[in-house]
Parts: sequence; C-alpha cells; structure tokens
Amino acid sequence: MQDQASKLRDISRNRNDEDQTVSSTVMAVTSGKGGVGKSNMSTNLALALVQYGKKVLLMDFDLGLANVDVLFGLYPRFTLRDVLNGKKKLKDILIEGPEGLMIIPASSGVEEMVNLSALQKERLIKDVRSFKNEVDIVLVDTGSGIYADVVKMLVAANEIILIVTPEPTSITDAYAVIKVVSKYKKYPRIKLLINMCKNIADAKNTGKKITEAAKRFLDVEIGEVWGVPFDTHVAMAVRQQKPFLLQYPEVAVSSNIRKIAGNILGAQNFNHYQNGFGIESFFQDLMD
Ligand SMILES: Nc1ncnc2c1ncn2[C@@H]1O[C@H](COP(=O)(O)OP(=O)(O)OP(=O)(O)O)[C@@H](O)[C@H]1O
Ligand SMILES: [Mg+2]
Repeated sequence: MQDQASKLRDISRNRNDEDQTVSSTVMAVTSGKGGVGKSNMSTNLALALVQYGKKVLLMDFDLGLANVDVLFGLYPRFTLRDVLNGKKKLKDILIEGPEGLMIIPASSGVEEMVNLSALQKERLIKDVRSFKNEVDIVLVDTGSGIYADVVKMLVAANEIILIVTPEPTSITDAYAVIKVVSKYKKYPRIKLLINMCKNIADAKNTGKKITEAAKRFLDVEIGEVWGVPFDTHVAMAVRQQKPFLLQYPEVAVSSNIRKIAGNILGAQNFNHYQNGFGIESFFQDLMD
C-alpha cells in the first residue's frame, strides 16, 4: 500500500491549472458498505442529468459486482479490454441506454489499466481525448469499500458521491472512505447521498453524524447532503430491468433524484465543475 499511497499523492500533487480547458466532470459514485444503492442511484441520476439536457456517460467500474447493464436489461458485446487491446475505440464499446445515455458496461479491463505498455497508454489517452468533447458529465459506479483500486478512482475523480444508508454499519464504513480519501486529497469534494431513509429527519440525522465526524476528526467539509427515501418502486423497477425514473417518474424516489440532478447542475456548483480535470485526466490517473 505504501507504493500505492505515494502514487496517489503524486496524482494530487501533479494536478495544476493546465487542464482548465477541460469541460467534463467525473463524479465517482461510491460507498463504504456494499448493497446501499450505488448502481441504482448512479443509473437513475445519470438519466436525470440526461433529461436536463446534459451529455452523460455512465461507467460501470465496479470490479467485483458490475451490474449496470443488468439494471438496464442491456447486453454489452465489448468491454474496455477490447479498447486496451487496440481492437476497438472507446466509442465502439459504448452502449446506448435510454434517452441517449452513454454507458460503458461491466468493464473487464479496468484492472489491467495499471499495467499498460507506453503504446497502449498513448493509444487510450488519444482515444479519450478525441471523445471528451462529447461528454459533459461522467458518473462512475466504483464498487464499495476501501480497496486500493476503488480509492484510486475516488482520488482521480473530480467529485465523490458517497452513498450511505442510516444503518450504523453503513455510517462507519462511509466514514472510513472519507478518512482514506482525505489522506490523499486535502480538499476532497464529497457529497453524501443518504439512501433508503425513513423520512427527512432520518436523512438529516444520518447526514449530521457523518458531516460532524468528518469535520471534527478529519477536517473534511462535506459539500452537500441529499436524502432519498426507501421506496418499493426501486426493487420493482430492478425486477423489470428498467430505471425507476422512467418506469415510475411520478413517485417520490424519482422526484428526489431529479432534485439531486438539478442541484448538481445548479449554477454555483456547476461553474466549479466546468473547471474539472475531466475524463482525460481520470483515465490518465488510473493508468499511473
Ligand atoms: N431508495 C431505495 N428504496 C428501496 N430499495 C432500494 C433503494 N435503493 C436501492 N434499493 C435496493 O437495494 C438493493 C441494492 O441496490 P444496488 O444494487 O443499487 O446497490 P449497490 O450499492 O450498487 O450494491 P453492490 O455493492 O452490490 O454493487 C437493490 O435490491 C435495490 O432494489
Ligand atoms: Mg452495484
């Protein structure tokens, strides 16, 4: 981990203003504990952002339990590995989700990104560069926990959406994620999404516990706290392999997701994002 740690520090340090022209932003959707709703939240949030007129790319980089394609009922033919092998361009492996959402499905190949030859690296970066203007926002479903590969994605991303439920185990695991990220980034941009809460008080309570602990013990300021209620329509939509936002647009969980998407795009935040380092440096960092 020492080697990994010093590499991650270099990533943060090497960031400077030269990439300011990049207009895409990369948001990693993660959690401490598994099964708290990362894939469902990232999938539906991505769609809500598309509905606001943004060009959105959803990348399933959960190395353990990738399942974004299953949530959409899609059957990918190619993966990132085909891009790394030079057989396909990034554009060719995208699958089109509903309403023009772009998806990079269950990406076998992500693990290999650290062991690429110079030629492969150059090819991938060229490919990403030619593609980056076609994307405003990239959402990455990262998988859960504080494994080195997940942490690397979190450090490489411009923003982190940390999904947590009101359960004590989820809360302590979320705190562990903030703690490890704060080791590598002095000012990580973290937003909390409290999922499956009973009511607003439940969400506020959970949010407060985490934001206070992060501030007090880690000196990390959490950017936003969002709440999404427990709603049986989520599981119903999963069974139908359709995003709940499209299947049940009127229910509370859908309007909450639209509100969060609106909040992400809200002027004061989004100007900030426009200066993000974007998809190119995200891939660059994953290869380092
Ligand atoms: N707001 C919600 N209300 C009710 N059920 C929910 C909600 N969000 C997620 N779920 C349910 O929780 C389960 C886990 O969701 P999901 O697969 O999105 O989590 P995950 O964090 O991606 O899991 P994993 O760690 O396995 O990748 C699903 O069965 C889903 O139906
Ligand atoms: Mg998942």
